[in-house]
Amino acid sequence: MEMEVIEIKTAGVEPDVHELIRRRWSPRAFADRPAAPDVLRRVLAAARWAPSAYNEQPWRFIVARREDPEAFDRLLACLNEGNRRWAQRAPVLMLVLARRTFSHSGAPNPHAWYDTGQAVAYLTLQATALGLYVHQMAGILPDEARRRCAVPEDYDVVIALALGYLGDPAQLPEDLQARERSPRTRRPLTELAFEGRWGTPARFLMQEDGHAS
Ligand SMILES: Cc1cc2nc3c(=O)[nH]c(=O)nc-3n(C[C@H](O)[C@H](O)[C@H](O)COP(=O)(O)O)c2cc1C
Repeated sequence: MEMEVIEIKTAGVEPDVHELIRRRWSPRAFADRPAAPDVLRRVLAAARWAPSAYNEQPWRFIVARREDPEAFDRLLACLNEGNRRWAQRAPVLMLVLARRTFSHSGAPNPHAWYDTGQAVAYLTLQATALGLYVHQMAGILPDEARRRCAVPEDYDVVIALALGYLGDPAQLPEDLQARERSPRTRRPLTELAFEGRWGTPARFLMQEDGHAS
């Protein structure tokens, strides 16, 4: 069952993209298997080594494991209802925060969210390398999160994420099962990248027959 889902989700991804990127996707069904402390340390260490403007490292993580029901329920209560439906079975939830200001000057840091997203991307790929999956969620209750988790004033609540091993989609409500099995789609590269100026097709994306690859 697990392999079937992985194959569907990998099928449409270009074979020459790195295996870690091919394997990553955002599941809603998580196995009832905890993430070991060393796994958590390693995914957070990966986030730590992401680049950031002025090396500010504005990202912060509040981690809750299912083994700690008080902390887990607190984080669960920070998700919107739609996400709570499935994220309640993940072994780990994290709240992702970004410091709004530079620590050296106190000036606003306009790159804080950009850098934080990059750190989460690092965390996600490290998790993939360790056989785990991450599902990010913008569907959160930021005010609730700030209050319940004592988030300091100078930090934005950016997203939450669920982390764990792949589970059986049959455990999900029916509407979510279909999404778990649906193929992944992406915009064509020619819509995402131009050459030299906006709108000019990138020649390096054209095949020899003149068609976009
Ligand atoms: C910033 C961000 C916010 C997201 N918010 C949610 C969310 O609230 N609920 C959800 O089920 N998925 C959420 N997702 C997952 C996306 O829907 C998913 O990444 C996208 O459909 C691509 O699918 P894939 O990650 O499996 O390739 C979010 C992803 C990101 C990066």
